[in-house]
Amino acid sequence: MPSLPVLKTLARELVSRERSPRRTEPDLVMDDPEKVAAYTRAGREDGVMAPVYLFHCAQVCEVIRPGDTVVDLGCGPATQLAMVARLNPDVRFVGVDLSEEMLERARAYGAEQGLGNVAFQQADVTDLGFLGDASVDAVFSTVALHHLPDVDHLERTFAEVARVLRPGGGLYLVDFGHLKSEKSIEYFAYQYSDRQPELFTLDYLYSLRAAFPLADFQRLTDRHLAGRARVYSTFLMPFMVVVKSPPRAGEVPQGVRAGLAALRAALPSYHRTDLQDLRTFFRLGGLASPLLG
Ligand SMILES: C[S@@+](CC[C@H](N)C(=O)[O-])C[C@H]1O[C@@H](n2cnc3c(N)ncnc32)[C@H](O)[C@@H]1O
Repeated sequence: MPSLPVLKTLARELVSRERSPRRTEPDLVMDDPEKVAAYTRAGREDGVMAPVYLFHCAQVCEVIRPGDTVVDLGCGPATQLAMVARLNPDVRFVGVDLSEEMLERARAYGAEQGLGNVAFQQADVTDLGFLGDASVDAVFSTVALHHLPDVDHLERTFAEVARVLRPGGGLYLVDFGHLKSEKSIEYFAYQYSDRQPELFTLDYLYSLRAAFPLADFQRLTDRHLAGRARVYSTFLMPFMVVVKSPPRAGEVPQGVRAGLAALRAALPSYHRTDLQDLRTFFRLGGLASPLLG
């Protein structure tokens, strides 16, 4: 059962007539060293984002298979990417980000983790010119699209994803969805403010304000990815939105299943509750997470 504040926020979103405007991120590309450091610290696998990273990791593992070439758009400090890459040693990954500051952290983290299957590329997700048409087996992106300045840039990104992804390829794009009420946005932004640096809380607040509405994801998926992916959101309140292809053919390797189970078992109990809430809200919205047991 979700907590009372979450249920109150849900009720507010259902009845609210407010339409909080989308406000562009103050830092479109994250290259302020202090903010990059705060995001990296709070975002590492044992930080406040741990359950969310695990949820997305399990989702990504459904749409990739051994032998693939997979691109992560807006990889940031590569926490999410490294988690997926460690579990999938037979997959080749390319992390893309526009911020050299982030890529430096990502490269250092990849080296620290001894990841031989990850490369990095400085590029704009709206122009993936370094990749040929139908040249990759899967694309994923986690909480990066809200950094784009406007819906035209979001559309260019969708068009690029459709271009570089081979037919039948895997796709998992996830980002925040725009909430109706500023109070709901503030609730989520400050929910864990006692467990994380203030800069991270502010970054989260700006991210939620910059989120694109669910309707934009739906329209652009219909236009560029029809028949290749579906849009899902958390139940009744699109706090998070996912654009996902069907799971790929073939078995998920046993090592991946075992690795996910181990990561889940290692979560502290309060993180397990958060993971359960996220799974419940997505399951009710039509998106199951079978690899999490
Ligand atoms: C909030 S971070 C997400 C990082 C990572 N995916 C994660 O889940 O932790 C968003 C990242 O997107 C990058 N970014 C923003 N606009 C971009 C663009 N147009 N092209 C490539 N990267 C971009 C930022 O530099 C930042 O590293």
